[in-house]
Amino acid sequence: MSDNKFVKKIACIGAGYVGGPTMTVIANFCPDYQVTVLDISQERIDRWNSDDLPIFEPGLKERVLKARGQNLFFSTDIDRCIDEADIIFVAVNTPTKTFGEGAGKAVDLQFIEQTARRIKENSKSDKIVVEKSTIPVRAAETLGKILHSGNNSVHFEILSNPEFMAEGTGIHDMENPDRILIGSMDTPSGRAARDELIKIYERWVPRENLVTTNLWSSELSKLVSNAFLAQRISSINSISGLCEATEADVDEVARAVGKDSRIGPKFLRAGLGFGGSCFRKDILSLVYLCEHFGLQPVADFWEQVIIMNDYQMERFVQRILSAMFNSVVDKKIALFGFSFKPDTGDTRDSPAIHISKMLLKERARLCITDPHALKNAQKDLEGVEGEIVYEPDPYKAAEGAHAIALMTEWDQYKTLDYKRIFNSMEKPAFLFDGRNHLDHQALFDLGFNVYSIGKPDRTQFNDPS
Ligand code: UDX
Ligand code: UDX
Repeated sequence: MSDNKFVKKIACIGAGYVGGPTMTVIANFCPDYQVTVLDISQERIDRWNSDDLPIFEPGLKERVLKARGQNLFFSTDIDRCIDEADIIFVAVNTPTKTFGEGAGKAVDLQFIEQTARRIKENSKSDKIVVEKSTIPVRAAETLGKILHSGNNSVHFEILSNPEFMAEGTGIHDMENPDRILIGSMDTPSGRAARDELIKIYERWVPRENLVTTNLWSSELSKLVSNAFLAQRISSINSISGLCEATEADVDEVARAVGKDSRIGPKFLRAGLGFGGSCFRKDILSLVYLCEHFGLQPVADFWEQVIIMNDYQMERFVQRILSAMFNSVVDKKIALFGFSFKPDTGDTRDSPAIHISKMLLKERARLCITDPHALKNAQKDLEGVEGEIVYEPDPYKAAEGAHAIALMTEWDQYKTLDYKRIFNSMEKPAFLFDGRNHLDHQALFDLGFNVYSIGKPDRTQFNDPS
């Protein structure tokens, strides 16, 4: 199958946030493997082949440049590359269904199915097919049925190898993973396929971090990992409301609670709620699965994580309203940050989208600033009624504003000249820190009325009591 130059040929279908960086890291560590990343979008592939990569991820560009044209290739020639590949990763998108049965919860598997059909049609030799996309548990069964349908004598061995990369640290996460999870069938061919994947990862991952399970455990573990992470965020956010009511400080509570080694300190940062392409989608998928299997109380338990996340955003907007004398009509609000977290231009399911829409409904005038996400912000808010200005310079964004609302904890927002910003704003000047990112005492000392998450307000107004 493989020509002399390379030990094996890998193809990856889907050149997105997952496929692109994952394959780049594999290509870097395995120069003797040919890695081709494929996509139906010519525009996306052209960008992967240019200096202007389609995604922004620290460390990605250097690694792409190191391997591109050597053993890393980006192409739309899907059919030929399927035929030539020994191992095919599937990293197409798996959004939440927006129509029909399961709309709003179930995963839309149409791209997975189309990809499976394409693999089947173009394969003349046996292949290992690796599920990289997050999919519902037992999706490999469907994949297998499609791949082995008809009179095709080619054998496909399906593996589950979910990604655990967080955006912004994707390259670091892939190069230093807590674990690499590989699920396979417990058959001789299943174990052999699993060992092929282990051969790749063991180039840089310590053996004890390579976790092998059966297929279904692997598929389910991905959903459960994301559900547990999101659940921690909703848990601490639920406590932030109680802190605001009682003058406790949520960061102090998180520190005290997280010191218990059984609980641990990570993912206890209270804020506006979680965003990103995975958490909401994966929990909804889990909820749908539980309902499907008749486990309604389990479904309700996990759905509550999302309900709490939505409530946190609503609560933030309510707080803005009540602080600003119950109206933001015609008031300029500068939104600092729009991406769902820093160090990425990705805005998928960003709390900033939901909060912008709520503030526009209240007829505020928005000026949105972000170092990397303005183009995406513009797409997200296209057609939404109300006044929105997109301004890359945070100083200009804040000029004449009644309030600043910090949506994303970009590092550079810590070191802005807030005195200059304060002087350019309408008074009283409000600052709502949705990520507890700034120095609240210093801002208060400059004259701001400061509101943060799960902490007492710092206002300049005299208490009439
Ligand atoms: C996606 C899923 O959202 C996530 O659940 C899963 O874990 C991995 O895949 P991501 O890489 O972030 O994550 O998605 P996206 O950036 O949208 O990339 C998917 C790519 O697949 C797109 O470039 C799209 O053009 C491509 N695609 C989609 C195909 O090449 N063929 C298809 O049939 C469908
Ligand atoms: C997540 C998982 O971490 C990763 O393992 C999986 O593969 C994909 O989904 P990602 O969505 O890129 O990664 O980012 P993550 O760092 O997990 O943050 C998700 C959201 O949670 C962000 O909006 C972030 O601001 C928020 N968050 C995170 C909090 O609000 N508080 C925290 O303590 C941590």
